[in-house]
Amino acid sequence: MTTKKLIEVALPLEAINKACAREKSIRHGHPSTLHLWWARRPLAAARAVIFAQMVDDPSGLPDLFPTEKKQEKERQRLFKIIEDLVLWENTTNETVLQAAREEIWTSWRRACAENADHPRAKELFDRKKLPAFHDPFAGGGALPLEAQRLGLESYASDLNPIAVLINKAMIEIPPKFAGKPPVNPDSRKEKTLIAKEWKGAQGLAEDVRFYGQWMRDEAQKRIGHLYPKIEVTDEMVKVRPDLKKYVGQKLTVIAWLWARTVKSPNPAFAKVDVPLASSFMLSTKVGKEAYVEPVIENGDYRFTVKVGKPKDAEGAKRGTKSGSSGSSFLCLMSGTPMPFEYLRPEAKAGRMGARLMAMVAEGDRGRVYLAPTPEMEAIALHAKPTDAPETDLPAKALGFRVQEYGMTKWRDLFTSRQLVALTTFSDLVGEARELIKRDILAAGLADDKKPLRDGAIGATAYADAVGVYLACAVGKLSDYNSTICSWISGGQTMRNTFGRQAIPMVWDYAEANVLSDSTGGYLSCIDQVRRVLNEFPASVQSISQQTDAALQSVSVNKVVSTDPPYYDNIGYADLSDFFYVWMRRTLKPVFPDIFATLAVPKAEELVATRFRHGTKEKAETFFLNGMTLAMHRIAEQAHSAFPVTIYYAFKQAESDEADGTTNTGWDTFLAAVIAAGFAISGTWPMRTEMGNRMVGSGTNALASSIILVCRARSATAPTATRREFVNTLKAELPAALIHLQRGNIAPVDLAQAAIGPGMAVYTRYAKVLDAEGKSLTVREALALINQTLDEALAEQEGDFDADSRWALTWFEQSGFAEGEYGLAEQLSKSKNTSVAGMVEAGILESKRGKVRLYRAEELPHDWDPTTDSRLTAWEIVHHLIRVLASGGESAAGELVAKLGAKAETGRELCYRLYTMCERNKRATDALAYNGLVQSWSEIMRLSRGGGKPVATSAESGLFGNNEE
Ligand SMILES: C[S@@+](CC[C@H](N)C(=O)[O-])C[C@H]1O[C@@H](n2cnc3c(N)ncnc32)[C@H](O)[C@@H]1O
Repeated sequence: MTTKKLIEVALPLEAINKACAREKSIRHGHPSTLHLWWARRPLAAARAVIFAQMVDDPSGLPDLFPTEKKQEKERQRLFKIIEDLVLWENTTNETVLQAAREEIWTSWRRACAENADHPRAKELFDRKKLPAFHDPFAGGGALPLEAQRLGLESYASDLNPIAVLINKAMIEIPPKFAGKPPVNPDSRKEKTLIAKEWKGAQGLAEDVRFYGQWMRDEAQKRIGHLYPKIEVTDEMVKVRPDLKKYVGQKLTVIAWLWARTVKSPNPAFAKVDVPLASSFMLSTKVGKEAYVEPVIENGDYRFTVKVGKPKDAEGAKRGTKSGSSGSSFLCLMSGTPMPFEYLRPEAKAGRMGARLMAMVAEGDRGRVYLAPTPEMEAIALHAKPTDAPETDLPAKALGFRVQEYGMTKWRDLFTSRQLVALTTFSDLVGEARELIKRDILAAGLADDKKPLRDGAIGATAYADAVGVYLACAVGKLSDYNSTICSWISGGQTMRNTFGRQAIPMVWDYAEANVLSDSTGGYLSCIDQVRRVLNEFPASVQSISQQTDAALQSVSVNKVVSTDPPYYDNIGYADLSDFFYVWMRRTLKPVFPDIFATLAVPKAEELVATRFRHGTKEKAETFFLNGMTLAMHRIAEQAHSAFPVTIYYAFKQAESDEADGTTNTGWDTFLAAVIAAGFAISGTWPMRTEMGNRMVGSGTNALASSIILVCRARSATAPTATRREFVNTLKAELPAALIHLQRGNIAPVDLAQAAIGPGMAVYTRYAKVLDAEGKSLTVREALALINQTLDEALAEQEGDFDADSRWALTWFEQSGFAEGEYGLAEQLSKSKNTSVAGMVEAGILESKRGKVRLYRAEELPHDWDPTTDSRLTAWEIVHHLIRVLASGGESAAGELVAKLGAKAETGRELCYRLYTMCERNKRATDALAYNGLVQSWSEIMRLSRGGGKPVATSAESGLFGNNEE
């Protein structure tokens, strides 16, 4: 017996989406800063989804909540828990987390009591032991981490060794050493009166800091000569008086800025290596501008650096590019164009070099930009890497451009100096492990027994554990130390390699100082790792392992929530070789099995890339077959008491239907999930990748993931005819729709969310057969669901007043444009009203045989609903939109206070209006209707005298990209 879970009925989507958007701006201490992974899900979404899939929906508990009203009240109580739970500030708030855990336990005990007669009750329904959690596509680990935080034993698996390692570092290692003090000699020496309590992984984090610093100091001894300081001389001040205060000082260089070069195509300058500079601007910060100015002399050129605004601002911005973005370069000496067709063969023939363009040093307050010196250039160019990784780059891969420029090995993405630095730091991880072991043994803190991989917690195991985090920091170091990194002139800082999920060609790159404390230095990487480690739950013992999701047997009797790769979006395996070549070197001794292969395993990766599978069709078949197998494993194995939740990255841009609810990938994916034996009981659109601002890109460019809620389909599911299917849809969808609206779902999300109840009907049957006995496809079922949803919305029109019903029909045909009076009058008859009456109501203008609806902003500002003798829902909506735009939520709240209970009809009308606008591609109007519903709860709160408006995250400007 299974009770419906909350996620199968309702979710506070608005609160979750707000928290997801907010989380994207969090940089310090966010678990994603442990190590880069592409397209992570926000923790807020993961936390809310796992909670809601584990707690009972009150509708399944009639003894406790006999009426619908009582059920709704209970649901609101659970919503409140979620609303607290999703806030970033509450990530480590034990009171909030404990409340959520208790709720999970309460539902679990109920499930155990209900299933006391189950033949395997002892094994499956032990009221003292919660089932464990599994995510078979764990990636960067957001879902397993949040499951652990909610008190579940968490299993993470992934095909990719880097993902497996990240999950080990997040959920497996911290609980092993939780509560242990650090072992490093400095911490042991410290004798405070009251011994410090080392909570969670704080002791481990402190050792990461200490031994990370040791590695940096060792590296300084070994490769410090490659990162010299720059002395400011009188000579320099002659051309740069602003440097006067630094004369005689040696400044730390934090980045060397290079431009790649090729031989000039102009025979007159055939020997000159000319720069490919995409900009000469070094700092665009107002009042701190700095730029490179090339000086052409004696048939060659040199770079100088100037401060202040450049005279030729456009030229400085453009560098040596030939013009608009995406264009190629011009020869600095002659102006001769150098198209990509010239650059590629030059690069492939080994004639692409690099010239030092400028240096960024640390000043008293802020950056100091300096001209290059021949000595500095020589030091960098003469670095001699030995033993750098020789692994090949993929010949072609999603998002890789560099191969066209003669780069064939991963090492080609690094300068000689970067290779020396990365090999040095990689090797130092091994040395640090040895040192840690020695320190532990010398202090007699633990025996040296088995290594970490054997589940031990002795000296070797602890040294291995610290080594994992030191290696994560080396991974971060590599992200900031390749020739794909560039200088951000606006923020005056380093841009990492993976700003995107790609390896693009970067023409002018920035080489960070790995020994400095700034971004791109090892200490700053260590500091970020230490900070996140400090905050990990480190609570329930958990496991991360390498497994192909199509073959896994980990899910057996576990709660499953997972986020599989989306079709051809990201080539994880190809991209992650960037890190693998370094991590294998540092961690193969610790995890020989995970790092056994020379490169990341590719063949089984569930990505539809034609580069790997030959053709588009073969790639699609591979993806679908593999995904169906993986879904099948989950459907067979997952614990029967809980639905399974699956994230599907939904790209609105691909939608091929006007309502944006169907796209090729989406229905194929749904088909795979259903073919795997799942019935679908919910579909929740969530904004997991972008902020919730509706800017520019159309009205429904919001949902970035759909969470599919699934249960294994009953083996005895009946077959239905198309007519039976449609009739059931008609019977069930209207109620589901009202439920969603009552939950104040944003109109923009309504169609997506309504697919859930619709698909629940479709997947209730083994098959739905049409008149010819053919099975109805998922695509056809989706179309019928949308049609029924439309009808259900249209039926709601019956609840509105006659004027509003007229206005709706008129609006659908003409929007706010003018139409013929005759037509308007004719329509008014069928709606039981009149044009004159509606003019009197104040919604319509009727002049010279033409009629048009007033736009919100044209409505009278002194409107008072309490004295309006012909109050319509139409007016309510449009006056609220007017007031919201001009006076914000507080003003709208005041109006709602006057409207009282009538305001609610306005909200209902908004859904209908939104759907019409979306279908008729009236994006701007749609935005206004969606916006009103989205502000509804706040407006209601204020209408009840609820105090100052709460700033939304959009208002507080908190959006950003958290991909490091
Ligand atoms: C969308 S990502 C998961 C992201 C994760 N939820 C997060 O928040 O970071 C999908 C993952 O599936 C993994 N993957 C691809 N093919 C796989 C397979 N056959 N078995 C297991 N994992 C696979 C990829 O390595 C990738 O980490």
